[in-house]
Amino acid sequence: MRIGILGTGSMATALGGAWVRAGHQVLVGGRNAAAAARAAARTGAAGHGGLAEAAAYGEAVLMAVPADSAPRLARELAPVLAGRTVLDCTVPMAAGPDGPSPTTAGGTDSVAARISAAAPDAGVAKVFGICHESIWTLPRPAFEGAPLAVPFCAGTPAAAALTGELIVSMGCSPLPCGGLSRAALLESAAVLAVGVWWSGGEVRHVFPSPALAPGAVDDGP
Ligand SMILES: NC(=O)c1ccc[n+]([C@@H]2O[C@H](COP(=O)([O-])OP(=O)(O)OC[C@H]3O[C@@H](n4cnc5c(N)ncnc54)[C@H](OP(=O)(O)O)[C@@H]3O)[C@@H](O)[C@H]2O)c1
Repeated sequence: MRIGILGTGSMATALGGAWVRAGHQVLVGGRNAAAAARAAARTGAAGHGGLAEAAAYGEAVLMAVPADSAPRLARELAPVLAGRTVLDCTVPMAAGPDGPSPTTAGGTDSVAARISAAAPDAGVAKVFGICHESIWTLPRPAFEGAPLAVPFCAGTPAAAALTGELIVSMGCSPLPCGGLSRAALLESAAVLAVGVWWSGGEVRHVFPSPALAPGAVDDGP
């Protein structure tokens, strides 16, 4: 698969490297040419260029920029993004007195929904925003004997299919969570996870399987 990356920072290089290892063709695009060249060298990408070049390169286009910049960038690139799948990993958050809080309204409002409104002819998937970037540097991430589950919300069947295929190619397990109207759930979950980490907690201790409670009766959700 050809993947264009918008951004040259931590997520761009971590996911770009994972995709190169998985056999995909990657082009890193940034607003700073030297940073794009450095990120491409770090990931082993096939090339680098400007933001529009990266958007035009990929069947899939990763949005790896700050959340508050992403909808504007999607609007600027909308004609180029038409017919492609935008992978939105952004986490909209700001520091508050009780820890990080979402900067979107919640409900059906999310960065992913705003990107979709800004580039209406692109498919959009909210994905890859839950884990810290370091997880994507692991070859085929798996924990406790199971491949990493990657939740995603997609706006179109084509975006869902491409996202699922990409996740499988990384050795991970796709976890479809519905359409873009549910993307705010993933964004809020990421903000909550960051807050847990910042407060010294361990996120994986927060959601233990009921199967770990001996003798528990499974009454369903
Ligand atoms: N780091 C993580 O562990 C992690 C995990 C999950 C999700 N995320 C999300 O992933 C996204 C990227 O995070 P990151 O950690 O990779 O950030 P980062 O290392 O700070 O990189 C951000 C990139 O965005 C570019 N950028 C900033 N404003 C821009 C604009 N207006 N137009 C175009 N490019 C712009 C920066 O370019 P310049 O160098 O030119 O400023 C840089 O290349 C964020 O939305 C973050 O919430 C991060």
